[in-house]
Amino acid sequence: MAKAKPEPTPPTPPAPAPIPAPSSGANGRLKAAVDKALQGGGEARVQAQKTRGKFTARERINYLLDEGTFLETDLLVNSRATEFGLKGKHIPGDGVITGFGRINGRDVCVYSQDFTVLGGSLGIAHARKICKIMDLAHDNRVPVIGLLDSGGARIQEGVDSLDGYAEIFHRNVKSSGVIPQISVILGPCAGGAVYSPALTDFVFMVEGVIHMFVTGPDVVKAATGEEVTFDALGGCEAHAGKSGVCHFVAKSEPDCFRQVRELLSFLPQGRHERAPRVANPDPVRRATPLLEKMCELDPRKSYRMHHIIWQIADEHKFFEVHAGFARNIVVGFMRMGGDVVGVVANNPGHMAGALDIDASDKAARFIRMLNAFNIPIVSLVDVPGYWPGVQQEHGGIIRHGAKLLHAYAEATVPKISVILRKAYGGAYIAMSSKHLKSDFNFALPCAEIAVMGPAGAIEILFSREIAAAPTPEAKAQLRAKLAKDYADKFASPYQTASTGSLDEVVEPSHIRFKIVRALRFLKDKRRPGDSPNRGNIPL
Ligand code: HXC
Repeated sequence: MAKAKPEPTPPTPPAPAPIPAPSSGANGRLKAAVDKALQGGGEARVQAQKTRGKFTARERINYLLDEGTFLETDLLVNSRATEFGLKGKHIPGDGVITGFGRINGRDVCVYSQDFTVLGGSLGIAHARKICKIMDLAHDNRVPVIGLLDSGGARIQEGVDSLDGYAEIFHRNVKSSGVIPQISVILGPCAGGAVYSPALTDFVFMVEGVIHMFVTGPDVVKAATGEEVTFDALGGCEAHAGKSGVCHFVAKSEPDCFRQVRELLSFLPQGRHERAPRVANPDPVRRATPLLEKMCELDPRKSYRMHHIIWQIADEHKFFEVHAGFARNIVVGFMRMGGDVVGVVANNPGHMAGALDIDASDKAARFIRMLNAFNIPIVSLVDVPGYWPGVQQEHGGIIRHGAKLLHAYAEATVPKISVILRKAYGGAYIAMSSKHLKSDFNFALPCAEIAVMGPAGAIEILFSREIAAAPTPEAKAQLRAKLAKDYADKFASPYQTASTGSLDEVVEPSHIRFKIVRALRFLKDKRRPGDSPNRGNIPL
């Protein structure tokens, strides 16, 4: 998650873009129809929305898009809810606004659910409008953004509204890995409705009034006896930190739209193109003092990997994704020499940077998204191994860990890795090792690469000698000596470089330059055997 600046009072949203307003004859009829559609759910419901600190569906679109660029589609679509027991009721736009506009000068498609109209619930006309705009986005290869604020399937429309969801899910899958899909949760998101965001590439939530869950607290209590609040069950903290459903948390709606705009600056319009290059004045060969101290650091001391990422990134800017979830691995975007790269990095500051179930899922999905959208991967490796324990084994670390191996091995975008301090065992293999077909593998001179760490290895190799040492002090001295010998002989980067599994042992001060140089070399990398269907399935 990008660092959010506090925003004490939400600014007034820009006025909705003017809609042509003809006034007489046939044109007068059009004006009347447009005026009626623009009413939303009426003044009282709009006021209720504002009292909750929420913007209206139209205000949100105007906030998100470049000023004056929104062109609405299907403004005049009639609701079908009137056929289902809501006769005589006016249901403007069937509770959703759809259209297209621009963000940072590039086209996007957008839909925005209007909670003031039947609680933003999804009827068949509402679903068809969303499907139409999703098709437009897919066929024209532009990102699609959903602004969600809805009570879910419209009860009065029965199975038609469920079918409407199925149509949306189908399109989510069809567009997966083809165009970026972004979901912004700005109100309730319950029942099956949660699965459309879950199928998209990125989910944003705004702190405060929003909740996501399949079954709410009442059903949970009735079914399991557990008592839980809305917030604890489906609030931002639950989904950004525990379930991993949410990639970004915002303090307010304006903060959220700012983050969406920033995210899009790192993405191409679709898998047919590359992310936009943005030149910047940051010298490729500038100093990286923190990185240069790495080899002086006690190998057991923890540090936050973010410091290293900020150090090597252009202008020290890192846009983190999924910041609150599985903090033992860090993923996100930065630019290097002006080009966008995705970073995947172990974080010794949390769980010693070991890989576990959640870290494997988080990194694997991010890597698959990068591969779908032609974004090179830079892996920063400092990993002691897999997190041990019955809970991990029974939770499926074998199955989940395999996803990370699959994602790295499958990715054909440029892959560059740097081993900073240690890379042991299966985790060494998983973190973009040479034989998973990484393009350039570098290591610092202090890196340790081996089947296992010195402490564990000497206990296996020299158990008799250690047992024979007469006193605890003698044992400790022997262990220290054996560990040093082991590190020198078996864990040195020169040993790995001698086999070709490392391309180069690099001075820390040259790392930034080496990465940029490698990226430029790999710019036109051919991707043989690529499948055109690189979907970004939720992992
Ligand atoms: C029809 C709905 C509705 C729905 C809300 N409304 N949800 N109308 N179908 N699903 C209407 C209300 O009747 C009300 O109309 C208006 O929207 C505002 O709702 P309130 O309840 O007054 O608002 P609030 O107190 O803020 O509560 C919001 C809410 C609550 C938490 C979303 O409405 C709620 O619990 N709704 C049902 C949520 C739910 O269980 N959805 C899952 C449906 S099943 P008036 O006219 O009075 O203003 C589902 C399965 C999909 O989605 C499966 C897909 C595979």
